Amino acid sequence: MKVDVLLGLQWGDEGKGKIVDVLTPKYDIIARFQGGPNAGHTLEFEGVKHVLHTIPSGIFHSNVINLIGNGVVIDPVVFQKELEKLAPFNINIKERLVLSKKAHLILPSHRLLDAASETAKGKNKIGSTLKGIGPTYMDKTGRNGLRVGDIFLPTFQQKYDALVEKHIGMLKHYEGFEYNLAELEGPWMEGIEILRNLKAVDSEHYLDQALRAGKKILAEGAQGTMLDIDFGTYPYVTSSNTVTAGTCTGLGVAPSKIGNVIGIFKAYCTRVGSGPFPTELLDEVGEQIRQEGREFGSTTGRPRRCGWIDLPAMKYAIMINGVTELAMMKSDVLDKFDTIRACTKYRINGEEIDYLPYDIDGVTIEPIWEDIPGWGQDLTALTSFGDAPQALKDYVTYLERHLEVPITTVSVGPDRIQTLATR
Ligand code: GDP
Ligand code: IMO
Ligand code: MG
Repeated sequence: MKVDVLLGLQWGDEGKGKIVDVLTPKYDIIARFQGGPNAGHTLEFEGVKHVLHTIPSGIFHSNVINLIGNGVVIDPVVFQKELEKLAPFNINIKERLVLSKKAHLILPSHRLLDAASETAKGKNKIGSTLKGIGPTYMDKTGRNGLRVGDIFLPTFQQKYDALVEKHIGMLKHYEGFEYNLAELEGPWMEGIEILRNLKAVDSEHYLDQALRAGKKILAEGAQGTMLDIDFGTYPYVTSSNTVTAGTCTGLGVAPSKIGNVIGIFKAYCTRVGSGPFPTELLDEVGEQIRQEGREFGSTTGRPRRCGWIDLPAMKYAIMINGVTELAMMKSDVLDKFDTIRACTKYRINGEEIDYLPYDIDGVTIEPIWEDIPGWGQDLTALTSFGDAPQALKDYVTYLERHLEVPITTVSVGPDRIQTLATR
């Protein structure tokens, strides 16, 4: 068996949570491979909306294991809150959730360092979710981090104290940054106690055995390709590899074991936080997309920046990830638009290019548009793609022609059932 992957092709919030939930019945294990509580994955069914941050989006299905891989960073405080929100749904967490012993822990002092660093950056701030992601991955690669496996060791407190002492030293460099660490530590240690009661495993072996036993695994990405630490719009990115290769390092799965790669994107484009966004619309059209799409962050509530679809960026994401099929989300958000636009190339300093240049921050990028007729009707009640308006089918065909990958899923609303297979 192979591991299928579902990941975002834009700047995050493409609708990964919804589609993972829809696909879960086809799988035995859903595994998160990177990111942490900076993610906010929304699922909607039976009139209830759920937002998950660390827990994989297969958690609402029985007989499916949800695994938090070694590439993920876990904040015990956020994690405990997530579990509390799931409590009314009577999910047997101990049976359904498995953690990698090699996943790194976000300490309260990581969160402080994130805040101090962002404040110090002033107008150059990343627009981080301030969940401590960057500092935690820095300690991971700096070989200082604390891992889930450490919480079972007698030396845990000692290791914790040593790391915190280092962080306190670092915080001294941020003049005027005030904090109260003691107040944050109580809830954190409570969260650690919760983690101690869950199943922690060597997840690379766990997954290998599952594959050998013929189990089906879906890897769930967080963030999106354009936020990848290597291939995103650096430095305005997150601190992990959000791309398919991240599945291999974030779960311990060999590249030869990767199966289908499902790339997910919005019928338009959004970004939250700072950084370049070539197709951003700062006019009333952008505002209309924000209102129709309810484009406000699932984790921070911040308004998302909105624009039309960016085909050069999408082609790049498809190449980097080896995408084999596409899912187009939030098509219904464009119901009221007479014309839809797609950016097919960029014009930079008078030159037309169809790829993202190295320096996209210091230059003015002018999108070159193609106009596509809208469908001008409500899609949300559709139950079959066959019944979709011709203009929507044409938009799908148009995108497939440019992207050279089939769009197999079209989403027409936030609910689980508002999901159409195109074939
Ligand atoms: P994720 O981070 O990729 O899981 O995406 P988010 O949950 O952060 O953001 C996607 C938002 O769009 C959520 O509020 C979803 O409920 C919503 N959503 C997902 N698919 C659709 C869709 O097809 N139409 C509409 N209108 N909303 C959708
Ligand atoms: P999901 O999984 C959208 C953005 C932040 C910021 C940058 C760095 O829900 O799609 P970080 O907190 O990682 O240091 O922030 O990345 N960002 C996201 N944007 N969706 C996400 O996750 C994101 N996670 C981080 O806004 O610009
Ligand atoms: Mg999100």
